[in-house]
Parts: sequence; structure tokens; C-alpha cells
Amino acid sequence: MVEIVIEKPGFDRSPSPLTVIGIFEDNEYEKYFRYLGSRAENTMKEIISGKGFTGKLGTSLLLPLLGNPEVKKILLMGLGKKEKFTRETSRIIAAKSALKSREINESNFSIFPFAETEEDDIEAIAEGIFLSQYNFEKYKSGSETENNKIQKAKLLIDTANIEKLQKRIRKVKSITEAVNFVRDLGNLPPNDCSPAQLVSHGLVMADQFGLAPTILERYQMESIGLNGIVSVGKGSNNPPKMLVLEHTGSSTDARPYLLVGKAVTFDTGGISLKPSEKMDEMKFDKCGGCTVLGLMRAISELKLPIRVIGIIPCVENMPSSSSYRPGDIIRMFNGKTVEVLNTDAEGRIILADAIAYGVKSFKPKVIIDLATLTGASIIALGANVAAMIGTDDKLKARLKKLSDETGEKVWELPLWDEFHDQIKSHFADIKNIGGRPAGAITAAAFLSNFTDEIPWVHIDIAGTAWTQDGTSEKSYNPKGATGFGLRTIVKFLIEESLEST
Ligand code: BES
Ligand code: MN
Ligand code: ZN
Repeated sequence: MVEIVIEKPGFDRSPSPLTVIGIFEDNEYEKYFRYLGSRAENTMKEIISGKGFTGKLGTSLLLPLLGNPEVKKILLMGLGKKEKFTRETSRIIAAKSALKSREINESNFSIFPFAETEEDDIEAIAEGIFLSQYNFEKYKSGSETENNKIQKAKLLIDTANIEKLQKRIRKVKSITEAVNFVRDLGNLPPNDCSPAQLVSHGLVMADQFGLAPTILERYQMESIGLNGIVSVGKGSNNPPKMLVLEHTGSSTDARPYLLVGKAVTFDTGGISLKPSEKMDEMKFDKCGGCTVLGLMRAISELKLPIRVIGIIPCVENMPSSSSYRPGDIIRMFNGKTVEVLNTDAEGRIILADAIAYGVKSFKPKVIIDLATLTGASIIALGANVAAMIGTDDKLKARLKKLSDETGEKVWELPLWDEFHDQIKSHFADIKNIGGRPAGAITAAAFLSNFTDEIPWVHIDIAGTAWTQDGTSEKSYNPKGATGFGLRTIVKFLIEESLEST
């Protein structure tokens, strides 16, 4: 992993082989040039005033300064118009800078902050650098990237508060390592990630980070009536499992936060079989559960003084003679009956049981679930925005605001009464599909039958959990699983723990 250190700028200090400077369109370009030594400073001024570099967003210019004693290479990065600049710009440009450094085989570089409000900016820059260096190389023989990894990035800041900033970077490191852990799990192919294998990855992590685990085996789920999870898992030789992780940062009888994540290790659709085109992508159908694992890891490492329960129902959805079928009626954990009309709408069934189990066992004060639940959420919002649906306006507003800061875009869809009508069943209490219209919402309406009166938000990450058709290129998201949602929810829990102390 890259090391990020804060250092006061000045060319008299041991210079990096590459120095990155962000340039806004039409202003303040000379802010950092004075730190580069007079020769480089003059060169920069000539280039900028001669319009050799305008600072347009997305542009960059690499300048080798041959024979220059202080700075060997400068990388100018366009930041675009100052009014349009956000933390997400910092994240993306920092990530691009790190990728560029790697591309030209420089294993360390220095970078100046981009914005005025330096603390937040530094956090975003560090996130961009850490996240951009992720690679999933487990299945590549003879790795090409092995020998040109970035080792060190220096953030050049003229501050008296180095220790404080360094602490903040340590926090970012814990969080982004958790994101990369989610990506590692998410990217695992389905032949190496059965429910049992996913659970054992969760257990190793729990042991390493001091979380208390409980595993529910199939026979235990059968005996307590988690029939939704058992039913969906019936078609596979890899039995379903449920992992419950507990972080107790405050008293054990405090009402906890409940995080639930869908982990379908592979979703063929079951008897309602999916078309084969792109079916491989359904290995990512475990990403909600993986994100909950990563969240538990992060909050434990950050030692948040709150109580949090993470529940990950794990199944493989396969067609076979033992599969659940369209027409089946399942009595769920909370006693409600569900008519199965499409076995491909399996996520809501396992989530519903896991949520109901969490509600009954832990009386949580808040429920947040994450799931690659519906293709309809992608139809509604595309592949760059997650759908947020829930029962608590305050909670939704909080998450929306935090998502604006993290760049993990969410947008709310409504959960009005009409939508509940779409999932009324003729033969049971509810049915597991509500037709094509408003498909992301009716899936959430289904889940709301299992949350009791507890404030609850569901985040449908079908479009955002991995890079797919329509994903806009983001330098800090390499191809594959993204770990979307973790940074926003960690921020929420950090805020909550500040309030509770
Ligand atoms: N895992 C899928 C949702 C999905 C589809 C995520 C495409 C990402 C990309 C989910 O289990 C599913 O199959 N949902 C169905 C529901 C339908 C049968 C009501 C869907 O969205 O088509
Ligand atoms: Mn499905
Ligand atoms: Zn699914």
C-alpha cells in the first residue's frame, strides 16, 4: 500500500522525482510555483502565460526539467473552473496523478493540495491516491504492475498542524483499505466464492479486527424459520449461510445500528433463468454483503464508540431439481407469506429474512441495507447513481448530504402507498415481483414489510457496485467491484458516534 506523508513544501528538502500541481482555469496558477526554485518557476510562468497549459479539466502536461537541480519533473493537472470544483474533482485528479506517476515508473511523487479548505481537500486527495492503486491480480500469472507500484506520496502543505493532518490520513487509510477489501471480495469469481467461502473470508476478517461472529448454518436457519434464505438457497449444492458480526463500541444493551447486505454469490436467476449474455456479471451480486463486511471492518478499526450489527445472508441462486419454484409460497421469518412469481427476484427474499431476523434479535435503532437488487434501478438512474428508498426522512437527508461529499451519488425514489398495491398477492400476503413499472421501488416496498417501525433506508447499488456499461470513467475506480457506499455509510456512523459521546 502507498504511504502518504505530509511535508512542508520547499525545494531545499529532499525533492520527489515528480511534483504534481493542479491548475485552475484562469486563476491562481502561481500559488505554488515559488516553492519550485527559480528556474522551474520561470518555466512554469512562461508556459502558463503563453497558454501552453490552460487548466481545462481533464487535461494534463508532463514537463521534464532537464538538468534542473530542484525539481526533475512537473505534472500539471487541469482543475477546470474554480466555481465548479468539488471534493470529487480532488479525488479524481489525485487518483489520475497517482496513475500517471505509476505509468511513467516513478514510485514516489509530491503533490500540492488543490483547494483552499485544505483539510477536506487533503482527505479527498488521500482517498483518490489510495483507491486508485487498487488492482485485482489474484488470477494473473506474472503480474505486470508488480514492479511499478507507487510507494510514497508526499502532500506538500505549509501547515503547523502536520500531526493532525497525518491522523486524518490514517483514518482515510483505514477506510480506503476497507473499500479495497470489499473490492477484493466482490471481484472473486463464483467458483472461488461459495456462501461458505465468503463466510470464511468474513470470519478471518472478524478475527483480525476483533468483531464477534455468529454463523447460522442451513439447519439452524430451517429450525428458526429463516425460510426465505433457505428457499432461495435450495437449488445449489453450496448451502446457504448467514453471517452476523457484532461491533460493541458502547454498552452491549445500547440499541445498535443494523447493516444488512445482500450476498448472492452467483445469481443465475434460478428456475426463472437469466439470459446467458452478461450472466458472468452476476458474480457481483454479492457486493452488498461484501460492503457490509468492509463496513464492519472499518468501524472496528476506527474504534467507533457505538454498537453495530452487520448481517450478511449468503446464497447461490441456481436452477436444479431442488430449486424453489415460481408458484411456491414461503412463510418468512416474521410470519408473513410470500408468493414466488419469479425466482430471479431472490435478493429481496433473503434480505427480508435477514432484516426481520435483525429486528427481532437486536431491536436496532436504525436499519440500512445495501443490495444489488434490481436492474430497474439502473433503468431509472443509470450506472452512476444508487437508488435510495426508505421510511425515515431525516436519515435519508443525512445520507444524501454525506453522499454529496463522498462522490457516491444516491438519489431518492418515493415509497408511496400505491407501490404497495403492486405487490399484493392473490394467494399469499405479498408476491415477490410487482411488474416492470417502478421495479426498484416495488422491491423496496417488499422489504418494508420486514422492517417494522424502525427507521430504515435501502440503497440499491445494482448500477454502482461494479463498473459496467454506462459507468462513467473515474480514475479512482479500477474495473470491477467498486466498494460503492462504504465511504458514505462510514461517514454517517462516524457522525453518529460523535453525537453519542
Ligand atoms: N441481481 C439482480 C439485479 C441486477 C440485475 C443487478 C442487473 C445488476 C444488474 C436481481 O436479483 C434480479 O434479478 N432482479 C430482477 C427482478 C425482477 C425479476 C423483478 C431484475 O432486476 O430483473
Ligand atoms: Mn436475481
Ligand atoms: Zn440477484
